[in-house]
Amino acid sequence: VPVQRIRNFSIIAHIDHGKSTLADRLLQETGTVESRDMKEQFLDSMDIERERGITIKLQAARMNYTAQDGEEYILNLIDTPGHVDFSYEVSRSLAACEGALLVVDASQGVEAQTLANVYLALENDLEVIPVLNKIDLPGAEPDRVAGEIEEVIGLDCTEAIQASAKAGIGIDAILESIVKDVPPPQDNVDKPLRALVFDSYYDAYRGVVVYFRVMDGTVKTGDKVRFMASGKEYVLDEVGVLAPNQVKVDALHAGEVGYLSASIKAVEDARVGDTITLATKPAKEPFPGYVEATPMVFCGLFPTDADQFPDLREALDKLRLNDAALQYEPETSSAMGFGFRCGFLGLLHMEIVQERLEREYNLDLITTAPSVVYRVTTIKDEVVLVDNPAHLPDVQHREKMEEPYVKMEVITPETYVGTLMELCQQRRGAFIDMKYLTPGRTTLVYEMPLAEVVTDFFDQMKSRSRGYASMEYQLIGYRVNNLVKLDVMINGDPVDPLATIVHRDKAYGVGRALAEKLKELIPRHQFKIPIQAAIGAKVIASEHIPALRKDVLAKCYGGDISRKKKLLQKQAKGKKRMKSIGTVDVPQAAFMAVLKIG
Ligand code: GTP
Repeated sequence: VPVQRIRNFSIIAHIDHGKSTLADRLLQETGTVESRDMKEQFLDSMDIERERGITIKLQAARMNYTAQDGEEYILNLIDTPGHVDFSYEVSRSLAACEGALLVVDASQGVEAQTLANVYLALENDLEVIPVLNKIDLPGAEPDRVAGEIEEVIGLDCTEAIQASAKAGIGIDAILESIVKDVPPPQDNVDKPLRALVFDSYYDAYRGVVVYFRVMDGTVKTGDKVRFMASGKEYVLDEVGVLAPNQVKVDALHAGEVGYLSASIKAVEDARVGDTITLATKPAKEPFPGYVEATPMVFCGLFPTDADQFPDLREALDKLRLNDAALQYEPETSSAMGFGFRCGFLGLLHMEIVQERLEREYNLDLITTAPSVVYRVTTIKDEVVLVDNPAHLPDVQHREKMEEPYVKMEVITPETYVGTLMELCQQRRGAFIDMKYLTPGRTTLVYEMPLAEVVTDFFDQMKSRSRGYASMEYQLIGYRVNNLVKLDVMINGDPVDPLATIVHRDKAYGVGRALAEKLKELIPRHQFKIPIQAAIGAKVIASEHIPALRKDVLAKCYGGDISRKKKLLQKQAKGKKRMKSIGTVDVPQAAFMAVLKIG
């Protein structure tokens, strides 16, 4: 197929606005996937994704479409993950396209994630086609939402397509618009090979399978290629297209999208954003925009049972083959024993990894509260990055301490502006701007410490706005603040996984609330347990958990046996996910207690 009849596009949308449903519809309508083969939501193939209804890893599908002009076109849909943690991956998959469908739920309107992704598309010079989805809903207001898109994004919506991915309305119009409005790729087939990696995954038999878009030149099975960022070279075992299952082809030319395998050992050797060229005839320059994933959020992972430490290491090694952004190194804590300090792109990434470790590898883990990376300048003028509060240099060695800041945009119905501003203020946010999107809807812009975002800001925002507000943030750099380390002692012993870094002004409040929360969460023992919070040597809050007076079974004496059994079972269940620290059993929830304090 000549390059003039290829279209490469992606779909950008806020979570739940119907991206996956529309993708499925397009695959069905073009006959790419037979209806009977169609698993619901073909593109979201990971189980966890399907369960959570979110798209984490991006993938691609090639469709053949005979347009109204009678010509046959190849439409390559490149899927994008819909979460801020993966915005770098979104930017790379958009860089592999010439156009994007902007799907907006016509009963909702523009949301924070929509905006963030549209800006990425516009930065990549994509042709953006607005689609007003869910017009089958009685509450749909396509005209209002079209107005919103024009107002906020400045995109002409006079010809916006009204569609229902669910009911199959407007699908032909969308396909025609892709053909007519998305420009074909440039015909760069005569240049030296350059292909952009937009996704990859690890396959136990073939090694890493790389998804890429050929920008210049041609790539063939048997070619020796070089990944320009990693510098690694491989002979290609196979190249092919995604139809949407992998189908081998001899060669792929400029403009085409496909996959390759070359017995690559781990995804870190073929990272998203890297440029593939020929080892024998390399291109001069890679594509701009390659960035190595930097973990933003760290936490400790400890097996509840110390014997599982080797299993945990093995599981992390395996996950890492498939996840170049995951970082980990062994961590020993006097309180917790052996575990790992792990780094993640963000909170969602962290949750996904934890969940996979527990579900797929059957590990019982204690996870400590997430921490951001602090930048400490010592009195000797050395700069130290601290991702674990327990490792913060002592105050007398610190010259200054900085923390990462984000620019936060919250889009909300007007009614919740007050309560959300209050939340942002509590989270040390500095008000920057307030914009009226359309009557009744407002954008709030704040600058705030990332640390305040990773402590359940999202949940608070959702509950204060009854689910109606959406948010988006981006990192804007480090700022100096007056920060202190808050230590926690249980039964007189410092428990370093409970240590946390807070702003000095909040330290007393957090210390008190944390001590109270721990008192609530740690079960009673046969002895009295003191709990203290301290800054340096100074105790700022103290509580104690009274000793159990009687054996819990005492009240069952004489009672029927089934009741006694039930009680024992209940206790056994409660025991799961406890870590013994000294003589005290501390439940998982206690390690997250700091997140539950506003
Ligand atoms: P993420 O994968 O989380 O980014 O979400 P998504 O944008 O892919 O949304 P998805 O396709 O999973 O749709 C979200 C919900 O909206 C599902 O329950 C769909 O059935 C429903 N939905 C999608 N399109 C339509 C539509 O046109 N009309 C109606 N009524 N519901 C729709």
